[in-house]
Amino acid sequence: MTVPRKTFLRQIGWGTLGVALAGDRLAAAMTSEAKLPVFEPSRSDQFWRAVRGQYELAADLTYLNTGGLGPSPRVVGEAFASTTRSLQGRLDTGHALFDEARRVVADFFGAAPDEVCFTRNTTEGNSIVAAGLDLRAGDEVILESHAHPGGSLPWLNQAKRRGIAVKVFEPDPSSPTGNLERIRALIRSRTRAVQVSHVTAPTGILMPVREIAALAREQSIWFHVDGAQSSGMVPFSLREIGCDSFATSGHKWLGGPRETGVLFIRRERNDEVSPAHVGAYSSCDFDFDGRLTYADGARRHEYGTRNAASVVALAAAIRFQQEVGRTRVADCGASLAQRVQAGLAPIRGVEILTPASPQMRAAMTTFAVPGVEAARLFGYLMEHHALRCRPVTETGLQAVRVSTHVFNTPAECDRLIAAVRDFVRAT
Ligand SMILES: Cc1ncc(COP(=O)(O)O)c(C=O)c1O
Repeated sequence: MTVPRKTFLRQIGWGTLGVALAGDRLAAAMTSEAKLPVFEPSRSDQFWRAVRGQYELAADLTYLNTGGLGPSPRVVGEAFASTTRSLQGRLDTGHALFDEARRVVADFFGAAPDEVCFTRNTTEGNSIVAAGLDLRAGDEVILESHAHPGGSLPWLNQAKRRGIAVKVFEPDPSSPTGNLERIRALIRSRTRAVQVSHVTAPTGILMPVREIAALAREQSIWFHVDGAQSSGMVPFSLREIGCDSFATSGHKWLGGPRETGVLFIRRERNDEVSPAHVGAYSSCDFDFDGRLTYADGARRHEYGTRNAASVVALAAAIRFQQEVGRTRVADCGASLAQRVQAGLAPIRGVEILTPASPQMRAAMTTFAVPGVEAARLFGYLMEHHALRCRPVTETGLQAVRVSTHVFNTPAECDRLIAAVRDFVRAT
């Protein structure tokens, strides 16, 4: 029995209802604007105050951990709530809303809509690629040794399941070329894939992804980018980077709802990632005699009932960043990070682990007080100054990471610097 897509959709009942609900009301949720003032350089303070006014952060906390979990501006919560209300009122899946959200997301990432699908987080996107590529025992994959578990475990799991070999390189904090060369030095005839974090989680190193993409293409190696820390922190276009796939989370720098993510797979290589999980919406044509044709594009990795409110709210988060201005968002985070670095650098006893060069870092700064455990420094900043940073113990480090985003202020950075100075003095 063959079940053509249209019949199948009618059978499961969303064909017409979903389209009807994708009307003005719900589309409005996605395009809802925060009504920020027009940016004027001479009155930039007013603009940033309005941006900060969009966040409902606890007044007694200075939040410096967007790299862990990012707060959402008000428009995101509103889009989520209003979409949920509309869909619940009619018990609609809202599946038709995915396509509009997909257009917003694809445009933001410099991709085509058929190259992106919605996931739950970066880990899921990384896992889809690692599990989906045709890798055999003895094939090799290159990662940086600073990969987050959400970046390394998907490949280590393939080492366990399929016998691939994972080769790691230590990121070079001193030059982009150094990183390129460390990858090149690991390439062998069995190398099938390279993955790097666009911005590394422990120390915020910005990787030269364009150059790595060119190297991988030259050698016919799959290049996957773990973009958990870069989306919403630095502006880029995936087409310009030239990677084969890219996974990210909505709930960090993008300010989307929790449990949202995006996976990009370059159209030309889409069929090389075999879906490990499929179901309703993943196939446009199947039967019980062995035929199964996947839905066009990356969306084949989406299956079953989903929360449309999440993707609508993620699209609203992206629209908010576009309203603030993507370059402005990046400049704001980077200049606050620069302020943190400049303030910490002269403190004797503090070691900054994030590269100083703007070419190699963006809006995260990791620093250590040698001889002091991460938990102690983190705890001091949190308990005595309500500065919520993130302890870093990965890769043998004992450090603290600070993320600076559009809702943070120069005064907050200065308070952090003063608190670290006090800590070192008292230690
Ligand atoms: C580089 C990197 N990759 C992957 C992840 C995992 O993200 P998620 O839990 O959203 O999948 C993180 C989280 O901090 C990360 O920094």
